[in-house]
Amino acid sequence: MKVLGIESSCDETGIAIYDSETGLLEDALYSQVDMHTEYGGVVPELASRDHIRRVLPLIRDVMVQADVTQKDIDAIAYTRGPGLIGALMVGSAIAKSIAFTWDVPVIGVHHMEGHLLAPMLEETPPEFPFVALLVSGGHTQLVSVKGVGQYDLLGESLDDAAGEAFDKTAMMLGLGYPGGPQVAALAERGVSGRFRFPRPMTDRPGLDFSFSGLKTFTLNTVQRQSVDGQVDEQTRADIARAFEDAVVDTLRIKCRRALRETNMKRLVIAGGVSANQHLREALGAMAMSEDATLYYARPAFCTDNGAMIAYAGCQRLLAGECDALDIRPMPRWPLETLTPVVMDGSL
Ligand code: KG4
Ligand code: ZN
Repeated sequence: MKVLGIESSCDETGIAIYDSETGLLEDALYSQVDMHTEYGGVVPELASRDHIRRVLPLIRDVMVQADVTQKDIDAIAYTRGPGLIGALMVGSAIAKSIAFTWDVPVIGVHHMEGHLLAPMLEETPPEFPFVALLVSGGHTQLVSVKGVGQYDLLGESLDDAAGEAFDKTAMMLGLGYPGGPQVAALAERGVSGRFRFPRPMTDRPGLDFSFSGLKTFTLNTVQRQSVDGQVDEQTRADIARAFEDAVVDTLRIKCRRALRETNMKRLVIAGGVSANQHLREALGAMAMSEDATLYYARPAFCTDNGAMIAYAGCQRLLAGECDALDIRPMPRWPLETLTPVVMDGSL
């Protein structure tokens, strides 16, 4: 089955074609970063308008690259939510129009299920069951995953998501948007240990997170270190390093706790922040010491992309699911409410 995937939940238009028999055929991404940079974050209305401009030309490009025509596509998968409502409506309207015109089934995919399954596109995919750490701009969640659609929430952020904390820290350090990669790059030049940031909620039981206090701690540190409103270059790098160390350490402690509590030996990290090199190294070392294995996707499939939507949609379509054409986007949509995917009549 060849599935055309469309991702348009935020500021990236992602298109891909996934073939259930041969794997990923082609994927392409158009990032709106340059357009939103001058505003320091995503402007929802501009995002929607740009998706309208990009989706169809990108679909055409991907089909040409994959050497497929309309009659080769068996189904359409698009991001139904969560995300920005206007951006989601563009993907949903185009996906359903194409499906109607080509007379093929269409399915709306949960964006975080897409992230969660993205490591399945790699050469050594994880087997079920596993613990998943979802770390994106909007979500920080620990999930027990027994199969596609079988998700039990173990813990989540009570306030800011990890990616959001990276983005806000970037702003405080005078860096651009999206902040994560820029904070990580600055942190490379920083000295670990000059500043010690807290590891929120690690001194009490449970698997929930809180990152808003860390953000305030960063702001206070920046203010204390400023001379005439300026922070010198090395100090900025040292603050970035202290912030990154604190986030990575907090996530490491909670992931170790989740592995121990669930008795699982596989840890999957997904979402934009899982592209972070220090996080990968710290979790890899932790997993090894727990006799467990860490899995993640290539960096391009950690952040938003069409391939994960084509893949996740394909799994549900293969199990016989599809949506009616009048189904609406879901800007808010809890992951735990998804239906389990039943393959061959067994769970
Ligand atoms: O998954 P994603 O592309 O979009 C959402 O679904 O939110 O995640 C974007 C988030 C942003 O907050 C971005 O700053 C963060 O992921 N991010 C990173 C890195 N690359 C992206 N954070 C830390 N280190 C990175 N290398
Ligand atoms: Zn995402």
